[in-house]
Parts: sequence; C-alpha cells; structure tokens
Amino acid sequence: MRRALVLARKAWGQTHPNPMVGALIVEDGEIVAEGFHASDGMPHAERVALNALGRKPKPGATLYVTLEPCSTHGRTGACCDAIREAGIARVVVGATDPNPVHAGRGFGVLREAGVEVISGVLDGECEDLNLIFNHSIRTDGEPLIAAKSAMTLDGKIATRSMESKWITGPVARENVMRWRRLFPSIAVGAGTVIADNPRLTSRIEGEPEWCPWRVVFDGLLRTVMTQNMPSLYTDEFRDRTIVVTTQHGGLGYVRKLRDLGVRVWCMDSPTQRSSLGMFRKRCAEEKITGVYLEGGAQLVSEFLQERQIDYLFTYTAPMLLADDKGRSAYSGLRTEHLTQAVRMADVRHESLGGDFLMRGRVVYPEKLNVDETVFRLR
Ligand SMILES: NC(=O)c1ccc[n+]([C@@H]2O[C@H](COP(=O)([O-])OP(=O)(O)OC[C@H]3O[C@@H](n4cnc5c(N)ncnc54)[C@H](OP(=O)(O)O)[C@@H]3O)[C@@H](O)[C@H]2O)c1
Repeated sequence: MRRALVLARKAWGQTHPNPMVGALIVEDGEIVAEGFHASDGMPHAERVALNALGRKPKPGATLYVTLEPCSTHGRTGACCDAIREAGIARVVVGATDPNPVHAGRGFGVLREAGVEVISGVLDGECEDLNLIFNHSIRTDGEPLIAAKSAMTLDGKIATRSMESKWITGPVARENVMRWRRLFPSIAVGAGTVIADNPRLTSRIEGEPEWCPWRVVFDGLLRTVMTQNMPSLYTDEFRDRTIVVTTQHGGLGYVRKLRDLGVRVWCMDSPTQRSSLGMFRKRCAEEKITGVYLEGGAQLVSEFLQERQIDYLFTYTAPMLLADDKGRSAYSGLRTEHLTQAVRMADVRHESLGGDFLMRGRVVYPEKLNVDETVFRLR
C-alpha cells in the first residue's frame, strides 16, 4: 500500500476534480504491474494496472488500491466490473469512498462477486492524500479553503514595519511550493499584492514552473490604481489571475484588467468587501475545488471570522517578536473561554529544517445563543 501511495502521488495536483489513486498487482509476493490515475478523463488506477499487466492475472493475484474501487459507470466504466472480469480474487483497499452516497458500495459489489476485500489498510495516509477531493465530493463541489501562514512562535506573520521575508527557512518554503502545486488556486489580499508583488506560482527544482488560478481579493481595486501594475496582471500567466472585487471598484479599472486578459469576479456587495460565502459558491460553479489562502493577516482573519476556513497550514519558526504591534496571523474573534477556541482535528506535524508545520482540519466552536452565553458565563 505504501508503494501504491507513491504511485498515486506521481499525479500530485494533476487530477482535479478527481482524486489521486495508485494501484498495483501482486503475484507470488512480487509486484507485477502498477498504475495510477493521471488526470481527469484518463483511466482509473485499477484499469491502468490491469492494462499494464497485459494478460490475465494469475489465480492467486492481489490488487492493492489506495481508494475504494468505483462501482458506478462513469466515463471510464466501473472499476469493480474490471476487477471482476479480470478474475482478481483478492483486493486490498486503503480509504473508503468519501462520497456518502457510494461509501462502501464498491466493497459490497466485489464481495457479492466472490472477491475477498480487505479495507482500511493505511487508511489515514490514503485519506490524507485526497484532502481536497474528500471535501469537495462531500459538499457538492465546494472548494476546500485552506489558510497557510508562516509565523513566529508568538503568532506574528510580519513585524510592525511589515517585514515578513523570511520568517521560515528554505526547507519550509520549499514545502509551501509543493502545496502550491497541489491546490488548484491560491488566494491573497490586496495588501499582500501591494507589499510583496508576489508571483504565486509553484517553483520546484527540476520541474517546470506551475501556475494555479491566482486569486486577488481587492474590493476597491487598489492594486490597479498603482503606477506599476503588479506582476500578477502583466506576467505570462496573467490569464490565470482572477480579481475578486465589488461594484465599488470602478468600471474603468475593471475594463483595464479585462483588457490585460485578467479575469474579474465582480460581486454585488453593500460594502467594499465581497461576500466570502459567495466566493465559495462561485468557486464551486467554476469547478475550483481547492483554495490555498496565503494571506495576509486581514484577509485570512476575515475568512476565519466568517467560518470560511476549512483547513490550516501553520508553519512556525523558532523566532519571537514579542511586539504587540507585530502583525498577528489571526485576529478579530472574542474568545473569553477555551471552549470558544477554534481547534484543529486530524492534526499532522512535520519538522522542516528548523521550522515546524502543523496542519489539520478546522473545527469551529458551537455557536451559542445569547441566553446560553449568559448561562455559561455564570
Ligand atoms: N508570513 C506570512 O505567511 C504572510 C503571508 C502573506 C502576507 N504576509 C504579509 O502580510 C502583509 C499584508 O497583510 P495585510 O493584512 O496588510 O493585507 P491582506 O490581508 O493581504 O489584504 C487586505 C486587503 O484585502 C482586501 N480585502 C480583504 N477582504 C476582502 C474581501 N472580502 N473582498 C474584497 N477585498 C478584500 C482589502 O482591501 P481594501 O482595504 O482596499 O478594501 C484589504 O485591505 C504583508 O506585509 C505581507 O508581506 C505574510
């Protein structure tokens, strides 16, 4: 199963809106064929492995696959049928299908056909592999919104003079590049674009530069008013940039962006801030299944206050500012009691050079009504 996970990761960031899946066939204790799902519309991993074998598997052959085989006929046919037709007698599976409508159905179909099924092998790893897919399939295509911040031990992402380069070291920054390669989109606020003029691409040594959708939240189009236009609007990937704004941004600036080839999502709003709930819905419509929210502090805090963050990536550096005027990663909530804290679940830790990554699902405290609050405060 570990080898099947390695195979699945060969398509890192290339399978949206589908999951990454790896499969292999073992005969007499030897791996005889391997496969992975390469991209949307391409054959599923099980079929790739069966095709790679190029003959009928031996009677005692076992198929290992990181995700429950599909039992419904999509564009490429049900994998359960392919397994049955190939005469595979034993299937070992990692994660169960996260779609509640299908979960476990594939196991039933295979067992009914007389196939021995062993499920849940390295299921934690196999589920973690597809954190974007798992979320979007359970929420009717809504994106997994994951906030990333690089902070000091006291939770600061920039100094009082807005210096933030670099809080974390090269190993942590390389790790960010890998997640940028996974997520179909990266989002930042106007403040970050003006302060840093970022490129927001994934640059990994030995691989071509990759540009996901680059989303800029800029309700008033402040980033367009500047003398020097940000690179996001002028570089070779500018048709991969989306500016999220409101009708308060000014039509002239919208036209200017569109003339440059930049996309503009103008969202009706009584204020200069676009609704984050509407942004989520728009992503679902555009089939953007994941958003890697890279800051800055104001935008990320706004997403948190509106309970629109699903997942957190926090890189912590062994450094303290201990300055009240340093920029806090998250702010704006009133947390009287620890029971009101936003927490993380399914937490994973990684040591990256001298820095530390903690990532996990966000769990919001239950919303209390006023009476309950008074009662609890007593
Ligand atoms: N260490 C890290 O991980 C990290 C990551 C990113 C950035 N940074 C640092 O953080 C600093 C920038 O942070 P910041 O808090 O000043 O700025 P920011 O969060 O990047 O941008 C805030 C601006 O985005 C616009 N905006 C926010 N919500 C919006 C919405 N719902 N709809 C439309 N527009 C919206 C607003 O523009 P208007 O005010 O014009 O409405 C707001 O002022 C920089 O120094 C940067 O280097 C650090």
